[in-house]
Amino acid sequence: MTTLAKAEAAEHALSEELDRIVLKSVIYTSGERDPRQPLIRPDNGKLVMMGPDPRLPRMPERPTLMDFFRLRFGPTQHMMQSARLAQKNEAGEKVVMACLVHDIAIAGFIRGDHGYWAAQLVEPYVDEEVSWAIRYHQALRFFADESVGYAYPAMYVKLFGADYKVDPYIERDYRYARDHKWYMTSRMICVNDLYSFDPTLRVELEEFTDVIGRNFRQPKEGLGFDDSPSAHMWRTINHPTKYL
Ligand SMILES: [Fe+2]
Ligand SMILES: [Fe+2]
Repeated sequence: MTTLAKAEAAEHALSEELDRIVLKSVIYTSGERDPRQPLIRPDNGKLVMMGPDPRLPRMPERPTLMDFFRLRFGPTQHMMQSARLAQKNEAGEKVVMACLVHDIAIAGFIRGDHGYWAAQLVEPYVDEEVSWAIRYHQALRFFADESVGYAYPAMYVKLFGADYKVDPYIERDYRYARDHKWYMTSRMICVNDLYSFDPTLRVELEEFTDVIGRNFRQPKEGLGFDDSPSAHMWRTINHPTKYL
Protein backbone atom coordinates (compact mmCIF):
# COMPACT_ATOMS: atom_id res chain seq x y z
CA MET A 1 0.00 0.00 0.00
CA THR A 2 1.19 3.52 -0.71
CA THR A 3 1.54 5.94 2.21
CA LEU A 4 -1.56 7.79 1.05
CA ALA A 5 -3.57 4.56 0.79
CA LYS A 6 -2.40 3.53 4.27
CA ALA A 7 -3.38 6.89 5.69
CA GLU A 8 -6.76 6.64 4.00
CA ALA A 9 -7.32 3.13 5.35
CA ALA A 10 -6.38 4.22 8.90
CA GLU A 11 -8.68 7.19 8.58
CA HIS A 12 -11.47 5.00 7.26
CA ALA A 13 -11.08 2.68 10.27
CA LEU A 14 -11.18 5.67 12.59
CA SER A 15 -14.31 7.11 11.03
CA GLU A 16 -15.95 3.68 11.20
CA GLU A 17 -15.77 4.05 14.97
CA LEU A 18 -17.60 7.34 14.83
CA ASP A 19 -21.33 7.21 15.01
CA ARG A 20 -21.55 10.00 12.46
CA ILE A 21 -20.32 10.18 8.87
CA VAL A 22 -17.61 12.75 8.18
CA LEU A 23 -17.25 14.03 4.63
CA LYS A 24 -14.26 16.30 4.23
CA SER A 25 -14.61 19.71 2.64
CA VAL A 26 -13.19 19.82 -0.88
CA ILE A 27 -10.41 22.19 0.15
CA TYR A 28 -8.97 19.66 2.63
CA THR A 29 -8.23 17.12 -0.06
CA SER A 30 -8.14 19.08 -3.33
CA GLY A 31 -4.95 18.08 -5.11
CA GLU A 32 -4.59 14.83 -3.20
CA ARG A 33 -7.72 13.84 -5.05
CA ASP A 34 -9.38 15.28 -8.11
CA PRO A 35 -11.88 17.79 -6.69
CA ARG A 36 -14.21 17.24 -9.66
CA GLN A 37 -14.89 13.68 -8.59
CA PRO A 38 -17.97 13.31 -6.42
CA LEU A 39 -17.43 12.33 -2.80
CA ILE A 40 -19.19 9.09 -2.07
CA ARG A 41 -21.09 9.13 1.18
CA PRO A 42 -21.06 5.67 2.76
CA ASP A 43 -24.59 4.35 2.97
CA ASN A 44 -24.27 2.72 6.38
CA GLY A 45 -27.36 4.16 7.96
CA LYS A 46 -25.38 6.64 10.00
CA LEU A 47 -26.24 10.30 10.33
CA VAL A 48 -23.78 12.92 9.17
CA MET A 49 -21.66 15.07 11.46
CA MET A 50 -23.60 18.19 12.35
CA GLY A 51 -22.06 19.23 15.64
CA PRO A 52 -18.94 18.82 17.77
CA ASP A 53 -16.52 16.23 16.40
CA PRO A 54 -15.79 13.75 19.23
CA ARG A 55 -12.22 13.37 17.99
CA LEU A 56 -11.53 17.00 18.91
CA PRO A 57 -11.23 18.48 22.40
CA ARG A 58 -14.57 19.96 23.38
CA MET A 59 -14.77 23.74 23.15
CA PRO A 60 -16.63 25.79 25.74
CA GLU A 61 -20.04 27.07 24.73
CA ARG A 62 -18.77 30.62 24.44
CA PRO A 63 -15.20 30.18 23.24
CA THR A 64 -12.61 32.92 23.61
CA LEU A 65 -9.52 33.65 21.55
CA MET A 66 -7.49 31.82 24.20
CA ASP A 67 -9.71 28.73 23.87
CA PHE A 68 -8.95 28.65 20.15
CA PHE A 69 -5.23 28.93 20.92
CA ARG A 70 -5.42 26.02 23.35
CA LEU A 71 -7.96 23.73 21.73
CA ARG A 72 -7.99 24.33 17.98
CA PHE A 73 -4.70 25.80 16.80
CA GLY A 74 -1.58 23.88 15.87
CA PRO A 75 1.68 24.92 17.52
CA THR A 76 1.51 28.58 18.55
CA GLN A 77 4.97 29.11 20.05
CA HIS A 78 6.09 30.99 16.94
CA MET A 79 3.42 33.67 17.39
CA MET A 80 3.95 33.94 21.14
CA GLN A 81 7.72 34.13 20.71
CA SER A 82 7.24 36.89 18.11
CA ALA A 83 4.91 38.80 20.45
CA ARG A 84 7.42 38.50 23.29
CA LEU A 85 10.20 39.73 21.01
CA ALA A 86 8.02 42.71 20.05
CA GLN A 87 7.57 43.49 23.75
CA LYS A 88 11.30 43.18 24.33
CA ASN A 89 11.91 45.57 21.44
CA GLU A 90 9.44 47.97 23.03
CA ALA A 91 7.09 47.94 20.11
CA GLY A 92 3.69 49.40 20.98
CA GLU A 93 0.90 47.19 22.21
CA LYS A 94 -0.83 47.17 18.81
CA VAL A 95 2.27 45.57 17.33
CA VAL A 96 2.45 43.04 20.17
CA MET A 97 -1.20 42.13 19.63
CA ALA A 98 -0.67 41.87 15.87
CA CYS A 99 2.38 39.63 16.36
CA LEU A 100 0.45 37.38 18.72
CA VAL A 101 -2.15 36.54 16.08
CA HIS A 102 -0.34 37.26 12.81
CA ASP A 103 -0.17 33.61 11.74
CA ILE A 104 -3.43 32.25 13.20
CA ALA A 105 -4.56 31.26 9.72
CA ILE A 106 -1.56 28.94 9.40
CA ALA A 107 -2.11 27.67 12.93
CA GLY A 108 -5.79 26.94 12.57
CA PHE A 109 -7.41 27.67 9.25
CA ILE A 110 -5.88 27.98 5.79
CA ARG A 111 -2.20 28.36 5.01
CA GLY A 112 -2.15 29.99 1.53
CA ASP A 113 -2.59 33.78 1.71
CA HIS A 114 -2.50 33.42 5.48
CA GLY A 115 -2.07 37.14 6.17
CA TYR A 116 -5.33 37.99 4.42
CA TRP A 117 -7.22 35.21 6.18
CA ALA A 118 -5.85 36.12 9.61
CA ALA A 119 -6.71 39.79 9.11
CA GLN A 120 -10.26 38.88 8.17
CA LEU A 121 -10.65 36.58 11.18
CA VAL A 122 -9.67 39.23 13.71
CA GLU A 123 -10.90 42.35 11.91
CA PRO A 124 -14.18 42.75 13.84
CA TYR A 125 -12.41 42.46 17.18
CA VAL A 126 -9.24 44.53 16.98
CA ASP A 127 -8.19 48.06 16.17
CA GLU A 128 -8.26 48.70 12.43
CA GLU A 129 -4.52 49.30 12.45
CA VAL A 130 -3.87 45.85 13.91
CA SER A 131 -5.81 43.95 11.25
CA TRP A 132 -4.37 46.19 8.54
CA ALA A 133 -0.87 45.34 9.72
CA ILE A 134 -1.62 41.62 9.76
CA ARG A 135 -3.08 41.76 6.23
CA TYR A 136 -0.03 43.46 4.76
CA HIS A 137 2.64 41.45 6.55
CA GLN A 138 1.73 38.89 3.91
CA ALA A 139 3.32 41.08 1.24
CA LEU A 140 5.89 43.06 3.21
CA ARG A 141 7.82 40.05 4.47
CA PHE A 142 8.99 39.38 0.91
CA PHE A 143 10.60 42.81 0.61
CA ALA A 144 13.60 44.10 2.54
CA ASP A 145 13.62 47.39 4.41
CA GLU A 146 17.15 48.33 5.39
CA SER A 147 15.95 51.35 7.39
CA VAL A 148 14.78 48.92 10.09
CA GLY A 149 17.33 46.18 9.43
CA TYR A 150 14.88 43.83 7.75
CA ALA A 151 16.43 41.64 5.07
CA TYR A 152 14.71 39.11 2.84
CA PRO A 153 14.48 36.02 5.07
CA ALA A 154 17.22 33.46 4.38
CA MET A 155 14.60 30.85 5.25
CA TYR A 156 12.58 31.86 2.18
CA VAL A 157 15.50 31.04 -0.08
CA LYS A 158 15.56 27.62 1.53
CA LEU A 159 11.80 27.21 1.28
CA PHE A 160 11.00 28.73 -2.11
CA GLY A 161 14.34 28.56 -3.94
CA ALA A 162 16.73 31.38 -4.82
CA ASP A 163 14.84 32.35 -7.99
CA TYR A 164 11.39 32.60 -6.41
CA LYS A 165 9.40 35.61 -7.62
CA VAL A 166 6.35 36.86 -5.72
CA ASP A 167 2.97 36.89 -7.42
CA PRO A 168 1.88 40.19 -8.99
CA TYR A 169 -0.82 40.78 -6.35
CA ILE A 170 1.80 40.54 -3.60
CA GLU A 171 3.95 43.09 -5.37
CA ARG A 172 0.89 45.33 -5.88
CA ASP A 173 -0.09 45.10 -2.20
CA TYR A 174 3.50 45.74 -1.12
CA ARG A 175 3.57 48.95 -3.18
CA TYR A 176 0.26 50.07 -1.70
CA ALA A 177 1.34 49.29 1.87
CA ARG A 178 4.71 50.98 1.49
CA ASP A 179 3.06 54.38 1.12
CA HIS A 180 0.42 53.87 3.79
CA LYS A 181 0.42 55.66 7.15
CA TRP A 182 0.39 52.30 8.96
CA TYR A 183 3.27 50.85 6.95
CA MET A 184 5.60 50.66 9.97
CA THR A 185 3.07 48.81 12.11
CA SER A 186 2.93 46.07 9.52
CA ARG A 187 6.66 46.19 8.93
CA MET A 188 7.17 45.68 12.67
CA ILE A 189 5.39 42.32 12.42
CA CYS A 190 8.08 41.25 9.94
CA VAL A 191 10.87 42.67 12.11
CA ASN A 192 9.64 40.75 15.16
CA ASP A 193 8.59 37.67 13.21
CA LEU A 194 10.95 34.91 14.26
CA TYR A 195 11.94 33.13 11.12
CA SER A 196 13.79 30.49 13.03
CA PHE A 197 11.89 28.44 15.54
CA ASP A 198 13.56 28.17 18.94
CA PRO A 199 12.52 24.81 20.45
CA THR A 200 14.15 25.60 23.80
CA LEU A 201 12.17 28.77 24.45
CA ARG A 202 8.73 28.19 25.90
CA VAL A 203 6.30 31.09 26.12
CA GLU A 204 2.98 30.68 27.90
CA LEU A 205 -0.21 32.21 26.56
CA GLU A 206 -1.04 33.61 30.04
CA GLU A 207 1.79 36.06 29.52
CA PHE A 208 -0.54 37.89 27.09
CA THR A 209 -3.78 37.80 29.06
CA ASP A 210 -3.71 41.56 29.64
CA VAL A 211 -2.62 42.41 26.09
CA ILE A 212 -5.53 40.35 24.74
CA GLY A 213 -7.87 41.87 27.31
CA ARG A 214 -7.02 45.39 26.21
CA ASN A 215 -6.75 44.78 22.46
CA PHE A 216 -9.20 42.06 21.52
CA ARG A 217 -12.95 42.69 21.89
CA GLN A 218 -14.07 39.25 22.90
CA PRO A 219 -17.75 38.88 21.92
CA LYS A 220 -19.96 37.92 24.86
CA GLU A 221 -21.71 35.20 22.81
CA GLY A 222 -18.34 33.55 22.16
CA LEU A 223 -16.18 33.71 19.04
CA GLY A 224 -18.25 32.24 16.23
CA PHE A 225 -21.62 32.87 17.85
CA ASP A 226 -21.80 36.64 17.56
CA ASP A 227 -23.04 38.27 14.37
CA SER A 228 -19.70 39.60 13.12
CA PRO A 229 -18.63 39.24 9.48
CA SER A 230 -16.05 36.59 10.41
CA ALA A 231 -18.13 34.62 12.95
CA HIS A 232 -18.72 31.81 10.44
CA MET A 233 -14.97 31.40 9.97
CA TRP A 234 -14.47 30.90 13.71
CA ARG A 235 -17.37 28.44 13.73
CA THR A 236 -15.69 26.46 10.96
CA ILE A 237 -12.47 26.27 12.96
CA ASN A 238 -14.51 25.16 15.96
CA HIS A 239 -16.48 22.55 13.95
CA PRO A 240 -14.28 21.74 10.95
CA THR A 241 -16.14 18.56 9.98
CA LYS A 242 -19.68 19.90 10.00
CA TYR A 243 -21.60 18.50 7.00
CA LEU A 244 -23.52 21.69 6.22
FE1 LIG B 1 3.19 35.23 8.51
FE1 LIG C 1 5.25 34.53 11.38
